Amino acid sequence: MPLRITCRAAEPLDLRADVTALGVFVFTRELPAPLKPLDALLGGGLTKLLAKEEFTGKKDQSLSIPMLGRGPSERLVLIGLGEKTAVGDGDVRALAAKAARLTNVDRSAHLVLGIPIELQEHLRAAAEGLELGAYRFTKYLTGDRRPKTELDEVTVAIAHKPGAKTKRAIELGQRVALAINQARDLSNEPGNALPPEGLAAAAQAVAKEHDLKIHVFDHKEILRRGMKLIDAVGRGSVHEPRFVHIEYVPKKAKKRLVFVGKGITFDSGGVSIKPAAGMGEMKHDMSGAANVIGLMDAVAVLQPEVEVHGIVACAENMPDGNAYRPGDVWGSLDGKTVEIINTDAEGRLLLADALAYARTLAPDLLVDNATLTGACVVALGTTCSGYYASNDATAELFRRAVKASGEQMWQLPLLEDLREQLKSEVADIKQTGDRFGGSITAALFLREFIGEAKHWVHVDIAGPASTERLLGWAQSKGATGHGVLTFLALVEQAAE
Ligand code: BES
Ligand code: MN
Ligand code: ZN
Repeated sequence: MPLRITCRAAEPLDLRADVTALGVFVFTRELPAPLKPLDALLGGGLTKLLAKEEFTGKKDQSLSIPMLGRGPSERLVLIGLGEKTAVGDGDVRALAAKAARLTNVDRSAHLVLGIPIELQEHLRAAAEGLELGAYRFTKYLTGDRRPKTELDEVTVAIAHKPGAKTKRAIELGQRVALAINQARDLSNEPGNALPPEGLAAAAQAVAKEHDLKIHVFDHKEILRRGMKLIDAVGRGSVHEPRFVHIEYVPKKAKKRLVFVGKGITFDSGGVSIKPAAGMGEMKHDMSGAANVIGLMDAVAVLQPEVEVHGIVACAENMPDGNAYRPGDVWGSLDGKTVEIINTDAEGRLLLADALAYARTLAPDLLVDNATLTGACVVALGTTCSGYYASNDATAELFRRAVKASGEQMWQLPLLEDLREQLKSEVADIKQTGDRFGGSITAALFLREFIGEAKHWVHVDIAGPASTERLLGWAQSKGATGHGVLTFLALVEQAAE
């Protein structure tokens, strides 16, 4: 259920609620103005408490104070915003998300959010943060395990009377975040509930809702088109692979952007089977595909004057008598032959065919994203994705989008000297390199399949990490959606 979010021209502490959350810039002696009346009512008690707790509004500081009947709500939460200089969409989004999450943790339903006047032009980001922060995956909890009270109503206290523009900003932000939450729902679905055909059906549902053109290739069509690597990866599963292409084509389009996602609904490793510990996390191995589906949903809502195509390749990687094996040589949609080294490096195979398809759309920018390597998680941890770009200008474009989104991503190099590791004796190219530089050699492998596409970015997503961890505002487990905000920023940049 979407939150009921309204804006009201009021001082936040004049509004009744269960929880009142206030964003506070760094202050030295003087309390922020909205807190002064309450401080007076408490005989200076607030000033004393903040001094004792050393709360000065530093970034990521927060203080939760029970009001015990003396304030406008049960609980007052102060959230530090840091210095007044470095604040934008990302900070407001994080503030709102933190407030929403704390309200849920407090088992409360109604939140009043106070945003400093300097930041009140970022209301879309505030609405995004509220929905993202309120997200929980509770679908499979029953009876007592279900949360009893959940955040459902938010009043945002602002200085001016809310007009049509304010309403629109809130609505857009909310719908963008719900698209991301839908991606997170897909990522969190266990493998038994979401096989490749289920993932394709989710894409179909989004296309139908927004009247977007969609092509879904079943196994037969995948074979007919020569997507031999997608076939190879999916062979060990009783669930057939699917290939999906969603189109958003507005009348006046300045550019064409193509996004590709890895949709492995469960990655057992196949014949090169993974160790038992942690294997269950590999239900999230379709996070890249989920991101693309969520992105298409958000794009359809925002209606930018840019053509956006979403491509997802879906398969399940399982061991079986029919499964592909190490030592195999397989053809590809591109035409190159690939020597299989390890059936657990399945993502790059799926993406190779997806990229070979995507490049035929002559994209101005081609972006793929995938939970591709454990090596990237080793390098950057679980809160940061790695990205590679085919040239500096493209990297710069992407870096700007990352900055605008507030997501954590770090550029990694396409080191040419590692390309040698992919030389094969029996085929055109080897599937994997040696032990070291695993994320880089995976990226170099993908580059072999982009053909004439000049502007390409590959994102190695930070494994099954959650959006809130990646944006640095909470600690809940659950997966991803990480990347959608950056991809949306890219789309909006292209529309400028
Ligand atoms: N989906 C995994 C990568 C992964 C693992 C992402 C853990 C996030 C967390 C991928 O298919 C895989 O298994 N990659 C192998 C490649 C190796 C066999 C060359 C890996 O990283 O170990
Ligand atoms: Mn794998
Ligand atoms: Zn995988």
